Amino acid sequence: MEIFHISAECYPMAKVGGLADVVGALPKYQNKAGHQVRVVVPCYDTKFKKENEFECVHWGEIKLGSFDFPFSVLKEKTDKLGYELYLIEIKELFDRPNVYGYEDDIERFLSFQIAALDWISARATVPDIINCHDHHTGVIPFLIKYAYKYDKIKNVKTVITIHNGLYQGWFGFDKLHYLPEFDLIHVGFLEWNNAINSLAVGIKCAHAVTTVSPSYLNEINYSANGLEELFKTVRSKSQGILNGIDIEIWDPSTDKMLYENYTTKTSGPGKQKNKEKICEQFDLDPAKPLFSFIGRLFEEKGGDLLPQASALALSENFENINILILGSGNAEIESQLTQLRNDYSGNYNVFIGYNEELAHLIYAGSDFILMPSRVEPCGLNQMYALRYGTVPIVRRTGGLRDTVIDFGDDGNGICHDQASVGDICYSINRAVKLYDDKVNFNKIIERGMTTDHSWERVCEEYIKIYNLIIQQNEV
Ligand code: GLC
Repeated sequence: MEIFHISAECYPMAKVGGLADVVGALPKYQNKAGHQVRVVVPCYDTKFKKENEFECVHWGEIKLGSFDFPFSVLKEKTDKLGYELYLIEIKELFDRPNVYGYEDDIERFLSFQIAALDWISARATVPDIINCHDHHTGVIPFLIKYAYKYDKIKNVKTVITIHNGLYQGWFGFDKLHYLPEFDLIHVGFLEWNNAINSLAVGIKCAHAVTTVSPSYLNEINYSANGLEELFKTVRSKSQGILNGIDIEIWDPSTDKMLYENYTTKTSGPGKQKNKEKICEQFDLDPAKPLFSFIGRLFEEKGGDLLPQASALALSENFENINILILGSGNAEIESQLTQLRNDYSGNYNVFIGYNEELAHLIYAGSDFILMPSRVEPCGLNQMYALRYGTVPIVRRTGGLRDTVIDFGDDGNGICHDQASVGDICYSINRAVKLYDDKVNFNKIIERGMTTDHSWERVCEEYIKIYNLIIQQNEV
């Protein structure tokens, strides 16, 4: 089967969050399973772009209202990622260092979608499936079906995978003329709450909707930033598929970013060496349990709870623990976390920013990973942590609920129900006791390290959905 994944992010070309990891890995495993898989992302000015070679396979010009943008399609020459990677180069809009956060993001991602479809419809072969990811590619299922100029590919089956339903890519009907011409009888597909809502468009028009975990699919029926009613109406074409992780990249026995590699058998001394390295770097004490947080510092991830929870946990435990935070996001949270250094130096530290290498080392060297998320469609960090023998402490929500079971129920981690400072601290206190109970602690670590979260299994579930919608006739 010929499959296209179209996305705003793909690791290692461009990463902001977990979306990149998924789009960087799922295609590789689909390819290994015998399919022809291509990934299409915008051509940002990133390190990967600068350090790799590309060839131009197509060029053209798109119209966005009264603007004309020349574009090129660049293919990474070696296919070393395990699939063909294509970049849509629109210099004026994407030759910038960041993925998101510009005033013209709507123009940027609409242009990206239009250019990608112009190219796909100009190719000699018509693909079987186009798998879109999140709102940045949400208009594609509509355009394929209804824009006149994509007549050649109008029967291609589409899937939209929702990694995060909070962000929806709204824009006003004043920008309707940006879209390629279509029969206005279909305009209703674009509308949600008096605006054009890119994610809603994708959900309405795609042949199948997937979320990145089964529990998240249940949750969005009552909490989806205004799209609850829409999700209810598309339930029959929706499925929750738990993400996998790339176990070739995330393997503590071979990971080059670690200070010391280890296996399940050697995890005790192996993890300790990594811990010593981190503790040295961040002025922490390797004799005490290390609790870490890695991720974006936003309310969605419970980032706002971290300053108070850290302070309380550190004072309650008479400085018998270490806490290390790696992340960036909300400026207020960043500054509160930075200030805490003054009160708890030697037991607490924070690295504001994003650093893939450091993240790997922290997974390896920590004893516990904190994930107090309010919303977590899947969450990959708990799976990385489990694989690296680090016990996840999570709030039961979305994919965290599907992957982490409390050790009290013979599980692999520590769970609480509320996104609150109290619940986080309660879990940290339980973790401190568990840490001292070495027999049990090691059992839980082993359970986590031997759980299979590989993509092989998961990627079959996507293929099943693709097959199902390919067989369906249009009504
Ligand atoms: C988003 C979600 C996260 C999920 C990731 C990959 O970043 O917030 O929960 O794991 O996408 O699907």
